Amino acid sequence: MAAAAVLPALHDTGSEGTPVLFLHAFPLDASQWDHQVAALSGEHRCLRVDLWGCGASPPPPDAPASLDAFAGDVLRVLDAGEVDSFSVAGLSMGGYLAFALWRAAPARMRALVLCNTRAAADGDATRGERLAIAERALGEQSVEFLVEPMVERLIGPAARAEPHIVDPLRGRVRRCAPAGIAYAQRAMAARPDSTALLAQIDVPTLVVSGAHDAVVAPDEARAMAGRIAGSRHVELDCGHLSNLELPHRFSEVVGEFLGSLPVRA
Ligand code: MLT
Repeated sequence: MAAAAVLPALHDTGSEGTPVLFLHAFPLDASQWDHQVAALSGEHRCLRVDLWGCGASPPPPDAPASLDAFAGDVLRVLDAGEVDSFSVAGLSMGGYLAFALWRAAPARMRALVLCNTRAAADGDATRGERLAIAERALGEQSVEFLVEPMVERLIGPAARAEPHIVDPLRGRVRRCAPAGIAYAQRAMAARPDSTALLAQIDVPTLVVSGAHDAVVAPDEARAMAGRIAGSRHVELDCGHLSNLELPHRFSEVVGEFLGSLPVRA
């Protein structure tokens, strides 16, 4: 008998309402979305997955790291949860994964929330940096070297002074397995350019950006929104991790958007 396929961890909260799949950033896990789940699970079935080696997911498979391959695993875990169509909210790496899901199964997607993310692939320099991080995490068997640089890069100047935002971020980075860090970096380095997909997106789309985002500049987010027909763009006064830096405002903006979607029979 063939062994059952190993699936990523699925967190399923709020059994009523239209499913919304939340996809986390690097180097975090599904707990990144705790506030949104608390705020929105009364109205929506909130689904979250952890990337391989992050949160409650098993270690990465022995196969080339790929967000397109992981999107296939996400679709399988949704099938197992009997989720057919769903909206997707992805932040940064989660947005890259949202594009991979769109490539794989556009007909299943009801709406998109693309937060602090970009459609473009990496340039050679970024790809090299990612592969070096992957090597270092595996070589040191530790993620400690990433903790403070990540706080600096991901959190905007105002929120960086807030221990209740920064300390849980440190904890989340420390909980990622070195193999999970390596998988994520290699998968992001290998991801294809998704710019051509933007013109194909025909579901309601909200783009969220941060005015002080050091990873994806607001102008880039605005340009991405401009290429998605009928999309809305909301710029928040924060850095890269908009949902953690401004959790109430973020949940309000996303809740309003999800609440505006046409009800399906
Ligand atoms: C993230 O927040 O997921 C990362 O900053 C994405 C990236 O490294 O491109």
